[in-house]
Amino acid sequence: MDKLVVANWKMNPASRAEAETLAAGYRTQVPRATGVQVVACPPMPYLALLHDLTPAIQLGAQDVFWEESGAHTGAVSPLQLKNLGVSWVILGHSERRAAGETDENISKKMEAAQMNSLRTILCVGESAELHAQKAPAIEKFLHTQLDNGLARLKDPSLLVICYEPIWAISAQSGGTPDDPADAMDRIAHIKQYIATKFNNITPPVLYGGSVSAGNAHNFFKYAAIDGVLVGAASLDATAFKGIVQSAVNAVTASPVAYLEKE
Ligand code: PGA
Repeated sequence: MDKLVVANWKMNPASRAEAETLAAGYRTQVPRATGVQVVACPPMPYLALLHDLTPAIQLGAQDVFWEESGAHTGAVSPLQLKNLGVSWVILGHSERRAAGETDENISKKMEAAQMNSLRTILCVGESAELHAQKAPAIEKFLHTQLDNGLARLKDPSLLVICYEPIWAISAQSGGTPDDPADAMDRIAHIKQYIATKFNNITPPVLYGGSVSAGNAHNFFKYAAIDGVLVGAASLDATAFKGIVQSAVNAVTASPVAYLEKE
């Protein structure tokens, strides 16, 4: 399975000129290798810009609507994204959930996106409060997010999951990366749950939350972690290059076995 490195620019940068500079940094610095896929998810206004500036990097959106066209002020459709050359979309990011996104809407967006051949990255992850509880409570919460988010799953081959504990996101106060071995355990559990519940499907599962050039190799060394979703560090081309380089190194070195801890 390829390793995936997904850049989530969130609502950055502020200007077209800065977006062009960042895109140029990606184009000149980010390594390419067989077995590693790189996806950039800029804000909607910069999608076309990136499409022109960095043709070798796959493009993703940070959200999508569930209708294909019509009277939906402010919305962007999966068909519009597809026609623009976008091939990925992030769904259910915790920052969108915090802004009111429901599981029901996430599942409708997944259905519409997959019907338009977009690869969908469903984000799941627990809060700091839940994280302080024992594993069964956390797992129960993740199961519910997975069950609801996948309720209208159309095409398992287009599915990617991202385990992104909210407390590990760098923008959160005190956001610190998960322990890579713990993240790997949780990801292995997610894989097992999905395979059992959804007809043996085995989507790639990424880790997200404060991934940096300095720590990425600690996540990539586990075979069960299929890639990373990168926020803050993706806004610095040199840092992002370091993360992609860790993925490249991981596909050439032999990773720690599936369930093994350090
Ligand atoms: P971070 O963001 O890498 O800045 O923690 C990750 C994300 O929220 O997608």
